[in-house]
Amino acid sequence: MNRGFSTLSLSLLALSMLLGSVAQAEITAVDAVVIEALQKTPDRDNGKRLYYACAVCHTPEGWGSPSGYYPQIAGQHRSVLLKQLADIYKGNRDNPTMSPFTTSLFKLGSQALADLAAYIEALPMVPNNSLGMGGDGLVSGKKLYEDNCQNCHEANGEGKAAEFYPRIHGQHFRYLQRQMVWIKNGKRRNSDKEMVEQVHNFSYADIDAVSDYVSRMKPEQSRLADHLDWRNPDFRAGFKTVPRE
Ligand code: HEC
Ligand code: HEC
Repeated sequence: MNRGFSTLSLSLLALSMLLGSVAQAEITAVDAVVIEALQKTPDRDNGKRLYYACAVCHTPEGWGSPSGYYPQIAGQHRSVLLKQLADIYKGNRDNPTMSPFTTSLFKLGSQALADLAAYIEALPMVPNNSLGMGGDGLVSGKKLYEDNCQNCHEANGEGKAAEFYPRIHGQHFRYLQRQMVWIKNGKRRNSDKEMVEQVHNFSYADIDAVSDYVSRMKPEQSRLADHLDWRNPDFRAGFKTVPRE
């Protein structure tokens, strides 16, 4: 849910952010739809209906896969979900398996996007996301995080909804590691410039260390599903997902 700020102030911030970073004329129709979606009152039932198409890969719980091939999306800030969906749709992130789904989604317009993002944000997060190797690397992981990442992603990895900074705690290690490598080498083209500059100088060992540290930062208990076997009651038992990796 929107905690601590109104949807309107969020959308105004979104607008000023976009205006700050690009010339007004360059705001695309897609960005405009995202800003509009942030101002809508979501309809959870419609969000649930739309989420069926996503659950095939991200699972009914939104927990992704332990291998990190599919990221956890449950509990992510809705502003972040919408920005990432827009970036995937615009081709700023390479995601050929998923991009056709965003094409049909953006055709449905801002209300549908608002409904879907609100549904996903409210899903409880996985209590046992996969972790890195542990060990001595965590000490440097912690220092790297505090020196470089905390400013934006916050002390416990909770991110900042109003500024589109993702929640990264509780995410599967291999997904974090892959994104960091893609941020470092420029494959993830939507990334915040300041973050890219920092990560560009990281060694692969640094990336492993910081990703491991982040994977171990725990979301508040109230955001997690209350047991490992929690299943999304909006789905029938036996709902088919793509093979887990
Ligand atoms: C065919 C499989 C597939 C389907 C269907 C799919 N996704 Fe994805 N999605 C992926 C993969 C794979 C990634 C990670 C890509 C990468 O590594 O950058 C991803 C990434 C994402 C991300 C970015 C996560 C982040 O932390 O930045 C979001 C948000 C997302 N998906 C939402 C959705 C929504 C909403 C739907 C339904 C409309 C959907 N996905 C349908 C495969 C899928
Ligand atoms: C200046 C702010 C800023 C800093 C500093 C920063 N990030 Fe980010 N980070 C972002 C934003 C914004 C995004 C979302 C991608 C985008 O749209 O640019 C992001 C995305 C990510 C993602 C992908 C999340 C996902 O769900 O796909 C990871 C992982 C990440 N950051 C980790 C880090 C780590 C680790 C550090 C420190 C080494 C760091 N970031 C420093 C702003 C920042």
